[in-house]
Amino acid sequence: MSLPLLSRRLIFATGKGGVGKSTVALALGLAGARAGLRTIVVDLEGDGDPHETELAPGLFRLSVDPQSAMEEYLTVKVPGPAAHVLRQSRLFHTFAMATPGMRELLCIGKLWELAQFERRTPDADAFDLVVVDAPASGHGAAILRTPRTFAEIARVGPIAHQARTIADTIADPAFTAVVAVSTPEEMPVNETLELSERLSAGPEPLELQAVILNARYPDRFTAAEAAHMDSAASAAADTAPEAATPLQLALAEHRRAETQREQERRLRESFGDRLMVLPFLFERSLRLPELERLARELERTGGDPASASKEQTP
Ligand SMILES: Nc1ncnc2c1ncn2[C@@H]1O[C@H](COP(=O)(O)OP(=O)(O)O)[C@@H](O)[C@H]1O
Ligand SMILES: [Mg+2]
Repeated sequence: MSLPLLSRRLIFATGKGGVGKSTVALALGLAGARAGLRTIVVDLEGDGDPHETELAPGLFRLSVDPQSAMEEYLTVKVPGPAAHVLRQSRLFHTFAMATPGMRELLCIGKLWELAQFERRTPDADAFDLVVVDAPASGHGAAILRTPRTFAEIARVGPIAHQARTIADTIADPAFTAVVAVSTPEEMPVNETLELSERLSAGPEPLELQAVILNARYPDRFTAAEAAHMDSAASAAADTAPEAATPLQLALAEHRRAETQREQERRLRESFGDRLMVLPFLFERSLRLPELERLARELERTGGDPASASKEQTP
């Protein structure tokens, strides 16, 4: 398999808002579909389409919110008239939704269900890979811990049992991968490092299996060229301002790329080979062809040859 991450069934993409988390989740999903996996990208903000829609061959998308996850759970899990009574009960909904962690548990239960070979939803086809467009870092980490917390609080009974099963698969790095998305800027990088620490703390440490540096500016000029442009821009400033402006713009982009490299080094120091890099795409909007470019980049930079050959199965 070209991208070792794709051997997992559940991939959580998390990161600070605005870093391109949704874009990267789709690119990962596309890489999955390109590898022949029936893949679904699920967004947990819950403002998209609550039906499984096909974006590209083998690539589906779904938006999950706690309310509909709850409805589905009741329909499938609670037998007969009891479900009906519970569904109609506003008190039950208010109570369940106000229970700390219940929303997260319902969402993650739905994700887990999608990643099962046998789905509990009648007539639903199984997926080989579920990519989660998770909420921003802090909340994303909390979601991963919820099932264990529930299992410990409930101890016995069906909810405890199911929460435990889900918690076990999340703790299993062969089943679940947590991936952080970051731009090469100071705040998102800080947040990625904090997330990594938060995940590795506690009795059940989780490891970031990959960090995806998104929207990296290209290296256009060498340091010598930049110095040359700098003096040319100063010389032109008074005599030919129309020539100075494009030089100054190019220099500004060059400096931005330089500060990006500093942040890239910080990530490289902490994550080494787990770091994958995606370029900044200068297109107006990112559609399927651009996502495909990103998917190919992931296959290229994420295909650690050592683990790739190890994981190749006929
Ligand atoms: N590699 C990239 N190159 C250029 N633009 C990007 C890239 N990744 C994301 N974007 C753009 O950045 C904006 C935010 O991306 P999005 O995936 O919605 O971020 P998030 O889900 O983290 O809030 C979108 O307009 C998206 O098209
Ligand atoms: Mg998003």
